[in-house]
Amino acid sequence: MAFRLSKAVIPAAGLGTRFLPATKAMPKEMLPVVDKPAIQYVVEEAVAAGLTDVLMITGRNKNALENHFDRVAELETTLEKKGDTDKLQKVNFSTDLADMHYVRQGDPKGLGHAVLRARMHVGREPFAVLLGDDIIDHRDVLLSRMIEVQEQRHASVVALLEVDPSVAHMYGIATVEATDEEDVVKINGLVEKPSPGTAPSNLAIIGRYVLRPEVFDVLETTAPGKGGEIQLTDALQEMANGPSWTGGVYGVVFRGRRYDTGDRLDYIKAIVQLAVEREDLGPELRPWLRDFAADLD
Ligand code: G1P
Repeated sequence: MAFRLSKAVIPAAGLGTRFLPATKAMPKEMLPVVDKPAIQYVVEEAVAAGLTDVLMITGRNKNALENHFDRVAELETTLEKKGDTDKLQKVNFSTDLADMHYVRQGDPKGLGHAVLRARMHVGREPFAVLLGDDIIDHRDVLLSRMIEVQEQRHASVVALLEVDPSVAHMYGIATVEATDEEDVVKINGLVEKPSPGTAPSNLAIIGRYVLRPEVFDVLETTAPGKGGEIQLTDALQEMANGPSWTGGVYGVVFRGRRYDTGDRLDYIKAIVQLAVEREDLGPELRPWLRDFAADLD
């Protein structure tokens, strides 16, 4: 039987300074998106793609993350006594979701450095990396398609999204060539956050990667790049052009719904977009939102 990818790595060591003071004593990954912490969407996405072994790269002040995916006996007993099965189910859902593991990053030396912390846990198998700032709509397919492409092409795979050129400087940007598959491109070059106006394309890396374990060997020797940090994009750039043992890099071009929770404005938009589509909130929120928007001018 073919080997099935089973491990997801979720870097979650960032300080979340864009959300201060909310993130003074609470990890930014715990900020609620409607009524679920942002991180739970990401773990649910990994599990939906068959990745039930989840390693989170955390740091100081991140205990709430571990607690969220663990049992909370007192609350469970109270809800059981009340017979509130609906809420009990919500509490237990995140406990039973995945096989969770944690390792700390220690020094905040960048995304590449965070991913390298997963080396011992991952071993010599391909694995996925999911960044917590991006939420992919569960109705749209991305991660399972990336896993498929990884298995077919034995390469590393990144998720790409066409972005407006005015925001290209906020992303890793790819230079690509077409393949025989409409949604798959071969990556010839990658640059992390190019200066405004210098991006080689408008294809941006969004926070999903399916990587060959050789990335660890490359990261070991990747010099600090943009912002003085060890960049995953730089390691992938080396793999895209580097020796054949690294396997090359492909991109899956995503055309579905993606919500960014990385800064305050996008976070607000994500909550509104997700809430209007919810059966329990949408019917009341939609007409209110229309009236509210009409009154704005
Ligand atoms: C990271 C990556 C960048 C990528 C982005 C996607 O940047 O370094 O290449 O485009 O995630 O969200 P960050 O947004 O963490 O600064």
